[in-house]
Amino acid sequence: MTYNIAIDGPAGAGKSTIARRVAKELSFVYVDTGAMYRAIGLFLIRNNTDIRDMEQVKKALSKVSISIAYKDGEQQVMLNGENVSGLIRTEAVGNMASAAAAIPSVREKLLDLQRKLAQTNNVVMDGRDIGTNILPDAQLKIYLTASADTRAQRRYDELCKKGIACDFLEIKEDIIKRDDQDMHRAIAPLSQAEDAVYLDSSEMTIDEVTKKIKSFYKEQA
Ligand code: DC
Repeated sequence: MTYNIAIDGPAGAGKSTIARRVAKELSFVYVDTGAMYRAIGLFLIRNNTDIRDMEQVKKALSKVSISIAYKDGEQQVMLNGENVSGLIRTEAVGNMASAAAAIPSVREKLLDLQRKLAQTNNVVMDGRDIGTNILPDAQLKIYLTASADTRAQRRYDELCKKGIACDFLEIKEDIIKRDDQDMHRAIAPLSQAEDAVYLDSSEMTIDEVTKKIKSFYKEQA
């Protein structure tokens, strides 16, 4: 049997940084499910799909195939065979991913891929509905959050570091809007699983959060 760690939480809580670290230190496979939604978001943008029109969405989805590969231990997301990992980190793609993630057929498309990865590997999988929906039997579940200000500041710093021009207030507004969209959709909304450990990382370093999650793992394993 595989060991699965589910990490859910709102945008910018540090899930991917932490999940990647924990996976590396435990020699688990890191699965970034947000990247899969982002790849679909990118396709919909490129295809000029009006996502309010379900016929258009259905047609677009029939042309999408998402898979993942690993290069130097890093997850790469493939959209119809093209490695789009470098193209999906923009706010525009994130916002489209969030909007598309509320559509049942989009979620349906990714469900098997995510579950199969967890059935065949020890994984640290991060997203919004991993503990509640994708891996309800995960041995360890974490709900990782931080204040909206902290999360906006982290996103801002990350974008600045990459040399991408951005505005703090705009980022904060985007984050709040995305939280609202992800938490209040009808299907698989972001919420803390009953058996998840709540971790607020606002006042914690990456090292501290990583250590804490590893200590939960060690207590259980
Ligand atoms: O974690 P992220 O910012 O890369 O995710 C982008 C969007 O994808 C997020 O706003 C909501 C959606 N998402 C989801 O609905 N379920 C997941 N398991 C992961 C992401």
